[in-house]
Amino acid sequence: MLEDLNGQVAVVTGGARGLGFSMAGALARLGVHVALLDVLADVTDSAKALAAAGVPTLGLSVDVTSEDALATAFAEVSRELGSPTILVNAAGITIWEDSLEGTKASWSKVIEVNLTGTYLTCQAFGRACRDAGHGGAIVNVSSMSSTVVNIPQHQVSYHASKAGVDMVTKALAVEWAPLGIRVNAVAPGYILSDMTRQFTEANPELAEQWRGLIPAGRIGEPADLDGLVVLLCSSASSYLTGQSVVIDGGYSAI
Ligand SMILES: NC(=O)c1ccc[n+]([C@@H]2O[C@H](COP(=O)([O-])OP(=O)(O)OC[C@H]3O[C@@H](n4cnc5c(N)ncnc54)[C@H](O)[C@@H]3O)[C@@H](O)[C@H]2O)c1
Repeated sequence: MLEDLNGQVAVVTGGARGLGFSMAGALARLGVHVALLDVLADVTDSAKALAAAGVPTLGLSVDVTSEDALATAFAEVSRELGSPTILVNAAGITIWEDSLEGTKASWSKVIEVNLTGTYLTCQAFGRACRDAGHGGAIVNVSSMSSTVVNIPQHQVSYHASKAGVDMVTKALAVEWAPLGIRVNAVAPGYILSDMTRQFTEANPELAEQWRGLIPAGRIGEPADLDGLVVLLCSSASSYLTGQSVVIDGGYSAI
């Protein structure tokens, strides 16, 4: 049922490493031509590594908070790989700080990248689909933190940004259904990546604390998201839109 993915073109933001890179790999292994967009300069090396799957790839240095950079990047993707029909929005950041000490600047930075960046990239993709006259599938990377509060870390801006991502997902799913663009989100629990390692390496007991809260008994690996992302990108989920699917080893079920 996933054969329709072969030959499609995907844009994956935050694709230089972590969850974005892993999800891009899952798509590439099913024959999807993948463009990675990331602020990290080594995004080009990540794209070269993905090409080992035997598909054309492209790595572009892009800040998802820049409308101009996104417009240029989507034009380049269309020129080099073809008009994209899949978008995975994985670019994101987090800050752990007590809210009594937090600054407007740190709040705004997280909202700007996670929420505004997700919206702007959806918009660039939606315009590309409209102009090319085809539909598409968007997968926004939300978080279980859109609906549950993380402990013991204090991340109010991250929670607010991901709750916003869920609502952007719903609103665009309704607005763009007539264009044939489905918009869903994945909402992972704790997954091992540079984002979580910055906390667990500074505080080794933290990983044990998180593990104790996860019914599955382990912190997730990036590859745990592959099946869900591939499903949401494929026509196997053609009647599924406007949903944020939690994938957290059961964390939020208790
Ligand atoms: N790791 C987890 O436990 C977890 C859980 C739930 C959700 N998420 C979400 O998954 C996504 C990927 O996170 P990750 O864990 O792989 O972290 P990560 O830090 O390894 O990857 C995030 C990527 O986003 C890129 N990025 C940051 N700001 C950007 C910008 N302005 N423009 C373009 N790219 C930018 C980074 O350079 C990096 O490559 C994030 O949205 C994160 O919130 C992660």
